[in-house]
Amino acid sequence: MQVLSGKDLLPYLSQIRNDTPGFLLECSRRYGDLVGFKVGRTQVYFINHPDLIRRVLQDNHHNYSKDTIQYNTLATITGRGLLTSDGEEWLRHRRMEQPAFARSRLARLDQVIAPALDAMLERWERHPADEVLDIDREMMAVTLEIVGQALFSIDLRRDAPRLTQAVLTALDHVIYRAQNPFAPPDWVPLPRNLSFRKALSQLDQAVYEILENRRRSSEQRDDLLGMLIEARDEESGGAVLTDRQIRDEIITLLIAGHETVASALTWSWYLLAQHNEIWEQMRDEVSRLSADRPPCYTDLERLPFTAAVFSEALRLYPPAWLITRKALGEDELGGQKIPAGSLIVISPYVIHRHPQFWEDAEVFLPQRFLNGRERAIPRYAYIPFGGGPRLCIGNNFAMIEGSLILAGVTQRYRLELAAERPVRVDPLVTLRPHHGLPMRLREV
Ligand code: HEM
Repeated sequence: MQVLSGKDLLPYLSQIRNDTPGFLLECSRRYGDLVGFKVGRTQVYFINHPDLIRRVLQDNHHNYSKDTIQYNTLATITGRGLLTSDGEEWLRHRRMEQPAFARSRLARLDQVIAPALDAMLERWERHPADEVLDIDREMMAVTLEIVGQALFSIDLRRDAPRLTQAVLTALDHVIYRAQNPFAPPDWVPLPRNLSFRKALSQLDQAVYEILENRRRSSEQRDDLLGMLIEARDEESGGAVLTDRQIRDEIITLLIAGHETVASALTWSWYLLAQHNEIWEQMRDEVSRLSADRPPCYTDLERLPFTAAVFSEALRLYPPAWLITRKALGEDELGGQKIPAGSLIVISPYVIHRHPQFWEDAEVFLPQRFLNGRERAIPRYAYIPFGGGPRLCIGNNFAMIEGSLILAGVTQRYRLELAAERPVRVDPLVTLRPHHGLPMRLREV
């Protein structure tokens, strides 16, 4: 195993800062599937083989926690929600929330997706055909609306732009913190810190309002918010979760459940715009559905190609491009002793390009996920949703939403790239296009 010290990393500093996925990709090409870094007193191990990833995420997952800079900085927004918590607390919350993602409920997701999609398409109808539209923003707005309605029965249509902006400002700050560990702490009243605090208080205000409105309303809603509020301790009969804990779960799900799907959809449109023949194939599949209504859950079985497009976009541009863990005790990975306290880095972006598991890895080929071919892919060579017990709770939600939105838009429009400069990938909390994704709408 190659171990790179601070001195070895000096030539890469700018790439590490501006293009971390590219840096990790280069490391894996140069040094193999297990690369060590010595960063100050911390040992960092970058692992890029399905067997090593399986060991960390699945087989020996008890030895690995989320106490890492990535999740600790995210926790400044989400608190101890499902994404950032660990141990008993995480397990209790996961069990509490899991029923909201059961198949029977997801089968009704189309009832939420269709009106949100319709509202977006109606907005698009009024948009002048030759003017460009930032598809990244559009996808962010529609996915936020969907997750808000599906899990909390809240109508974010009116508030989505304000909330989206607050989420973006807060997430942008988290990235800045991760990239600038020596920047003055959040309590120092610098303009950046002040706008972060303002964004946090806007988020809090919006979430506590949601909670209060639900408590005041006599209406019983069969959704995740209801489950969180009504969860009772078996012995005392008291509420299991405090308001703060509910707030953390709501913000976690709003963030984890919309930016990721929006990012995957944005990159799907980007790829489709560059691959006419693939768009035609998808359009052909979609045109066999009934044209006078938006696609629904039962249509999914007739949309395998559309789902494959989404899966392949998730391979090339996995929104969650970085997964980190801290080793609680000593372990052995690929014959190497891993000391307790080490930081483990896994990158879906890099493993999804591993030449041993992916032929023509840089090429957009949805066919990889069709006709049983996907079964030949080693489980931990394709990890857009992570794996093991911490597997994304919203993975099926995301696949349904992604396919239905791709199909619903394709029934009406073809999206053409209108970027005046090459689209650069920004590795933020999710992978995002640097200047948004300007596109033109063409009716089909
Ligand atoms: C394409 C869309 C999505 C992608 C790529 C994605 C990716 C991921 C990944 C990689 C993880 C695991 C992180 C780790 O192990 O460190 C994760 C966890 C999580 N995701 Fe997603 N996700 C997506 C959609 C969603 C949706 C729609 C929701 C909710 C509605 C959601 C909620 C969560 C939550 C709560 C966790 C933490 C689960 C736990 O640790 O128990 N995600 N996601």
